[in-house]
Amino acid sequence: MHSVPYGGRNEKRRYPTGMLPPPPRNNGWIDATEASAPALDPRLLEKLRDVVGVEHVIGDPDVMASYAVDWSGRFRGAASVVLRPGNGLEVAAVVDVCREAGVALVPQGGNTGLVGGGVPLHGEAVLSLRRLSRITDVDQVGGQFTAEAGVSVADVQTAAHAAGWDYGIDLGSRDSATVGGTIATNAGGLQVLRYGATRAQLLGVEAVFGTGATVSHLGGLTKDNTGYDLGGLLCGSEGTLGVVTAARLRLVPQTPERVVAVLGFASTSAAVETAFLLRQSLPDLHSLELFLEEGLALVCATSGLTPPFADGHRAYLLAEVASQRDPMPEVVEVLESVPWIDAVAVATEPARRAQLWRYRELHTEAVNTLGAPHKLDVTLPATALASFIDAVPGVVREVAPGATTWLFGHAADGNVHVNITGVEPDDLTVDERVLVFAAELGGSISAEHGIGRAKIHWLSLTRSPAEIHAMAAIKAALDPDGVLNPGVLLPLGPRPRGDQVAAG
Ligand code: FAD
Ligand code: MLT
Ligand code: ZN
Repeated sequence: MHSVPYGGRNEKRRYPTGMLPPPPRNNGWIDATEASAPALDPRLLEKLRDVVGVEHVIGDPDVMASYAVDWSGRFRGAASVVLRPGNGLEVAAVVDVCREAGVALVPQGGNTGLVGGGVPLHGEAVLSLRRLSRITDVDQVGGQFTAEAGVSVADVQTAAHAAGWDYGIDLGSRDSATVGGTIATNAGGLQVLRYGATRAQLLGVEAVFGTGATVSHLGGLTKDNTGYDLGGLLCGSEGTLGVVTAARLRLVPQTPERVVAVLGFASTSAAVETAFLLRQSLPDLHSLELFLEEGLALVCATSGLTPPFADGHRAYLLAEVASQRDPMPEVVEVLESVPWIDAVAVATEPARRAQLWRYRELHTEAVNTLGAPHKLDVTLPATALASFIDAVPGVVREVAPGATTWLFGHAADGNVHVNITGVEPDDLTVDERVLVFAAELGGSISAEHGIGRAKIHWLSLTRSPAEIHAMAAIKAALDPDGVLNPGVLLPLGPRPRGDQVAAG
């Protein structure tokens, strides 16, 4: 059994809020454009070709390049090789071979993650799960099916619809983000207030642990209290414990009658107050999103969209109400009861609804047109949400006067995406300042994107030493050789031996 190098049971919190050591600068995980990965031993490559087939062991630098940079362009590295297994057995064999050889693996799905956890920043091998793309064992009566790890969220939604159901997860990256990636990050998205995050959709998983052992629990029983929930544990583990190869997914009833409303407010606090009021008074509320005047202006400027209202407003909410009956009467009644809503645009027809959604969904792309942003993703308690949003641009300016702060997010979950542009990719001062500020207000440093490599330095802001110690013990038990995503989520850990890496 490996010793656990993360501190003892009674260790005090190492860095009390606001007293962290200086953040690292140029610490080697950002913009490693010059990085090259070590060449792997030809005998090892031969073994890997035997497992997945010659054409699925990719060593061409041009092809590997797209696997080595994240969606935002902030995290760049180089892969020693890209491996593309076609089923769970091949995944297990790849993990075994790499574990034996001491070669670290970075599992990768759609590569839409935003915290640098799915790209090889230290010359690791990429384990791409995208070829695992089947949906099987559809239970139309029970409302569940099995999806392999590489199926996109959009394809899960389509298959659910064809089976007479829907899927509880939706997010802007739906066309690329995969079942495996969304499980590994416990992705949230646009419907968490109604259906919960990805963990709540899981009836079971099939996965290969870092030990090489395969677990398969795809029976799909709704109630199954038979010990540790391994699927729940893998959910949010960011590829550090096991490689998810398939999942049994719970489907939800269809709600075809929909109303989307964009509401304008004179202040953030008016918008936030309304958000919680709508949550309480509209039981069929499906989504509740927030954005601000600067973000809307940027979206319109970069996409050519016309703003929703002739006059600008300080803050906006986008609310979607979805039901099996027309929700319009209750929406009208509730909106009419809130006198401080300054502007309302409502849509029921699908194309117009989609148009309203674009004001919110295009924020990610619009911000990225300004250069790779620092993307922080925090949750606040309901009572601190408005004051956080109003104060955080000033907090950023204190440490980075030339920076611009862009704020949007999932209002009903207290989840704000703090995007900062105009700061060097490797200068982590603003990241630290914002995360400390969120933690001081009782928030979390990651609402839905995870820790990855981007926030590893600040895990102790919202997790106690005892919690980090427990996580490290789990890591040591399920991935004792540290073959899966070393340096992601947990700062230290057993390192792969690397003795199969050829010199030079
Ligand atoms: P990847 O990016 O490939 O990997 C993410 C992490 O999961 C990595 O640590 C990787 O090692 C691990 N991993 C991937 N596949 C597996 C596997 N099979 N087994 C084990 N580990 C694995 N996120 C939200 O939560 N909510 C949103 O609303 C949201 N909107 C987004 C909108 C846009 C435009 C973009 C670009 C991203 C958005 N994201 C959002 C972030 C991202 O889409 C999610 O984190 C998503 O879950 C990542 O899925 P992926 O398949 O792309 O995973
Ligand atoms: C979103 O809610 O739009 C996503 O989480 C992506 C982002 O934070 O940019
Ligand atoms: Zn989000």
